[in-house]
Amino acid sequence: MAENTEPIAVDPDFYSMSPGHDANLQDFQSETTSIASTIARGRLENGRRYQATKEDDYWGPSDEQQFEAFEIGHMVFLVLDYNQPNPLFRAPIGDSPKHILDIGTGQGSWAIDVADAYPSATVRGVDIFPPPVSWMPPNCVFEVDDVLREWTWREPFDFIHIRLMYGAFPAEGWDQVYKQAYDALEPGGWIEQMEFDVRVSSDDGTLKEEHQLWGWGDMFIRCAERAGRSLAIQETMRSAIEKAGFVDVHEQKYKIPLGPWPRDKLLKEVGHLECAHWNAALEGWAMWLLTHFGEPVPWKKEEVQVYLAKVRAELKDPHIHGYNPAKRVWARKPTKEELKAKEASFEIDTSP
Ligand SMILES: C[S@@+](CC[C@H](N)C(=O)[O-])C[C@H]1O[C@@H](n2cnc3c(N)ncnc32)[C@H](O)[C@@H]1O
Repeated sequence: MAENTEPIAVDPDFYSMSPGHDANLQDFQSETTSIASTIARGRLENGRRYQATKEDDYWGPSDEQQFEAFEIGHMVFLVLDYNQPNPLFRAPIGDSPKHILDIGTGQGSWAIDVADAYPSATVRGVDIFPPPVSWMPPNCVFEVDDVLREWTWREPFDFIHIRLMYGAFPAEGWDQVYKQAYDALEPGGWIEQMEFDVRVSSDDGTLKEEHQLWGWGDMFIRCAERAGRSLAIQETMRSAIEKAGFVDVHEQKYKIPLGPWPRDKLLKEVGHLECAHWNAALEGWAMWLLTHFGEPVPWKKEEVQVYLAKVRAELKDPHIHGYNPAKRVWARKPTKEELKAKEASFEIDTSP
């Protein structure tokens, strides 16, 4: 898909969303897994399960409902880049990479697909909650760890991938993660990150101030700021990646339609899926941030649920042509030659 900053054309024949599309998902049912470990049991709050690997909270739940949302989100990205030679990522890593890392792997779908596509590689997915997978290709490995801790992987990576880690770390945490990624990559290895803008926009004025979706993103950005983490990572990731020393930086902007309102067939499909993604993810996106950092004071669980019911109604409204901007950035660690040349020029500059 070409660099997508143009308005998305609306399908003139579009009147209503297809019945049965509403993916309001089943209520969270408490996990009764037999794995008797604290990490796998997590921590329950407001009917959702959260990670218990690290002491400070991560805002998103790790439970069946959220894993289902991750899975639909994965499909959204695959369909969005369906016309690309490789819809999984853009970094030109060649045909026979050896070591790949997926940070914050979630459900593990990206890591599994990449392991299938690159049998030459060992693909590691790391997360603070164990991915709920019953089968994975033999060259895929999942690990439970906090990437803010010191990395101990011995083999250098050819490629490190990050997707939807918005709000995971404060700015200095991001610097630390990019620095560790830089150090853990082979010279010439690639990093790639894909992030959403949580704000909903429309190009044709159909999203109006009276809609809940109008202020949705800004409110959550403010909640996350109060929690000490930025949700607006798509605005800062490129410069933070450059600051860590990466070169050859590329960027692709997207518009992800919220509902099947676009005329373009591919974007219509993306919009269908994105609506299902929102419906599955909504409560998980909102509950922790609003009950801990809601404004003007933290909200009650029931208040969050009433608000989300209004948002769900707007998601079904065919007259609102909303979309989320999103951005992908990929960049390279300098090659050995580039690193040597840089060192040499540094020596010349600093010699008396
Ligand atoms: C919104 S999910 C995205 C999952 C997956 N990357 C995807 O695109 O579907 C973010 C994931 O990051 C994980 N995460 C958050 N903080 C982390 C940390 N410090 N170390 C490792 N994983 C972390 C969360 O547990 C969650 O599974």
